[in-house]
Amino acid sequence: MCGIVGYVGGQSALDVVIAGLKRLEYRGYDSAGVAVLADGGLATAKKAGKLVNLEKELKDRPLPDGFSAIGHTRWATHGAPTDLNAHPHLDNAGRVAVVHNGIIENFAVLRAELATRGHELVSETDTEVVGHLLAESFSSCGDLADAMRQVCRRLEGAFTLVAVHSDAPDVVVGARRNSPLVVGVGEGEFFLASDVTAFIDHTRSAIELGQDQVVELRLGGVTVTDFAGAAAEVRSYHVDWDASAAEKGGYDYFMLKEIAEQPKAVADTLLGRIDTTGALRLDEIRIPASVLREVTKVVLVACGTAFHAGLIAKYAIEHWTRIPCEVELASEFRYRDPILDERTLVIAISQSGETMDTLMALRHAREQGARVLAICNTNGSTIPRESDAVLYTHAGPEVAVASTKAFLTQLVACYLVALYLGQARGTQTADEVRTVIRELADVPDAVGRVLQTMGPVRELARSLAQKDTVLFLGRHMGYPVALEGALKLKELAYMHAEGFAAGELKHGPIALIEEDLPVVVVVPSLRGQPILHDKIVSNIQEIRARGARTIVIAEEGDGTVEPYADHLIRIPVTPALLQPMVTTVPLQVFACELATARGNEVDQPRNLAKSVTVE
Ligand code: M6R
Repeated sequence: MCGIVGYVGGQSALDVVIAGLKRLEYRGYDSAGVAVLADGGLATAKKAGKLVNLEKELKDRPLPDGFSAIGHTRWATHGAPTDLNAHPHLDNAGRVAVVHNGIIENFAVLRAELATRGHELVSETDTEVVGHLLAESFSSCGDLADAMRQVCRRLEGAFTLVAVHSDAPDVVVGARRNSPLVVGVGEGEFFLASDVTAFIDHTRSAIELGQDQVVELRLGGVTVTDFAGAAAEVRSYHVDWDASAAEKGGYDYFMLKEIAEQPKAVADTLLGRIDTTGALRLDEIRIPASVLREVTKVVLVACGTAFHAGLIAKYAIEHWTRIPCEVELASEFRYRDPILDERTLVIAISQSGETMDTLMALRHAREQGARVLAICNTNGSTIPRESDAVLYTHAGPEVAVASTKAFLTQLVACYLVALYLGQARGTQTADEVRTVIRELADVPDAVGRVLQTMGPVRELARSLAQKDTVLFLGRHMGYPVALEGALKLKELAYMHAEGFAAGELKHGPIALIEEDLPVVVVVPSLRGQPILHDKIVSNIQEIRARGARTIVIAEEGDGTVEPYADHLIRIPVTPALLQPMVTTVPLQVFACELATARGNEVDQPRNLAKSVTVE
């Protein structure tokens, strides 16, 4: 939610910042702006709408260039996405420029206070108060980092701030609380960004910033302190993927590329976690086996697609460990006062590692004494930093707002955790674990085979572009898959899409069925519980009898569904508990193609942002 870039170095600061914003545009695309320290002053430009509008503005009215600049791409919270509300925000003298990600909760009080001192605030944003406060503090202390520390001590809420001052040439200062900011360390140049993709073209050397820290970039180096000014310990790391991973690589959309990368993402997430004897090794889970043996309840917390991964994980965890398992939307979790103790294992699932709802849920869980294990795709992000342990998924950067490869790798990680728990508690023998591991190792190939047969799915999607509604049905693990199919369609195609447990049909939703209504049905594996399979075949007949156009996803060789399927999507035979990893893939392709056919922006759907850093 909002992308931020800062730069100090020897290159054209504007070029570096604009290129960084292009990489971060997935975080928000309501407006964009830049500020550059040049010719002893501060020059700024900002425009509502996507980054191209700002680029056009800079072409029509070029700014003087310099060696230090900041930039912002916005996902609006306070104030509509207008030129005026776009970042950067300045003080009245136009000497300070600040960009912000997050929400400053006490901005109204601060705004009123500034007004009494004669400040005129012109935008509707919460951010603008920071520019004015920084100007006041700088005029008394003469040091931008110090001014930032003073201001941060007065702010409540979540914020990443990056600022420049025309009287502090070649200095860029940043701060973070509950919102992401990383430092890139190049040769004689330094970067600040919401995530490393913004500077990966320049350096793979990065520094994690901790909670409540202020960072100062100068040509001579980087200084990190806490909000009180005490030197902070700095943790450096190397980014283990390169710039090409953050490019479209010949695909029209990041989403298409990320769908295609799924076989590799799944294989990479298994890599290094299975030893030469085929046994499971999860050394990174630093929670001792003795503690895992005592766990009495598992609670999975997550949002959106990651929540669906949690719903699927519940089946595997309960089946393999016999530990009761709950799955909860992170945004609801702490408000219902959940019953947790030191024998509860909370698993927080998040691609970005920055989702505020999930972060707040895990903090609540830890306060109650529960152990928290993060499943996360983003190295060094806040959720794994604040958890007791982390299992990283190795999907590589996911840029498209719609989550695809991250979802499949979250499932892999959940399966591994479930097996690990089963192994530690003795509910799974070593041989049983090895068998599942072998089956997991076959999944990349199965996903690859699904991807090779997607032509008819694309054609079908295009033929449905004028429809208003699509329903999705599933049973058992197919139910969360149905929810995920519906979510993808909502966020990408802006269509009414609902996922239902097929058994619930007759309790209400069947009233929605009308002539030619497309209904996607996820058929469980024949190798699972035969009764489930038979029941869903009956459900298909029930909806078809009422006029539905049935789109059936079923395993190769499953002939029972053929008479009732208007469209049949075949998937490879897969062990029942692993089947969601293949049944989800056609639904991703379906949603992507339908969105394209409807003329929607696939990678940047309206009103959304990749990383949801506000509650
Ligand atoms: O970064 P996270 O995994 O925590 O994000 C959670 C959701 O915001 C995310 O999965 C969202 O639902 C996706 N856009 C769905 O495709």
